[in-house]
Amino acid sequence: MAKINILYISLEGNTRSFVKRLTAFAKQQNMINQANPEINAKEIGPQDAPASESEPFFVFVPTYLTGGNGIDSGYTEIMTTALGEYIEDGNNARYCIGVVGSGNKNFNEQYCLTARKYAKIFDAPFLDNYELRGTDADVERIYGTLTKEWAKNGSSEA
Ligand SMILES: Cc1cc2nc3c(=O)[nH]c(=O)nc-3n(C[C@H](O)[C@H](O)[C@H](O)COP(=O)(O)O)c2cc1C
Repeated sequence: MAKINILYISLEGNTRSFVKRLTAFAKQQNMINQANPEINAKEIGPQDAPASESEPFFVFVPTYLTGGNGIDSGYTEIMTTALGEYIEDGNNARYCIGVVGSGNKNFNEQYCLTARKYAKIFDAPFLDNYELRGTDADVERIYGTLTKEWAKNGSSEA
């Protein structure tokens, strides 16, 4: 089975750590049973120019917001905008088949707000969320979610 594609951004390393553990978990699962897909993850740096995607992908995005309270007053996305611009570029958004968010629950209503916003803008489901570096249980659950979604949409033409 084709590898599951993930695009992500990580400013302080939490998302990178999570995606690395998810990739290692997928490799293990694939060794147990080849029907379990491996993961092909690509990090988008804050200064990276967009490239054209030609296969379906999932997006992993942490939350960095300034201003507003996330409910009725405006807020501004900071730090992660290169990922949003990457997805917006050309036809890339067509290939986005789901968004996984992360953040810190201390931010209350603003928890994972960027991922929720991306899901709306790019018309893709908000699949799941985890806090900071996530737990082993998060890795296992999210791998399960991605494999199910990938089986449904991963090989479909955009
Ligand atoms: C300046 C700043 C603003 C943040 N704003 C939010 C927020 O609005 N909502 C939220 O859930 N987490 C927020 N966080 C927490 C980060 O999303 C969280 O630490 C995440 O794991 C960082 O991912 P990274 O290490 O891959 O960059 C913020 C963190 C910083 C440093």
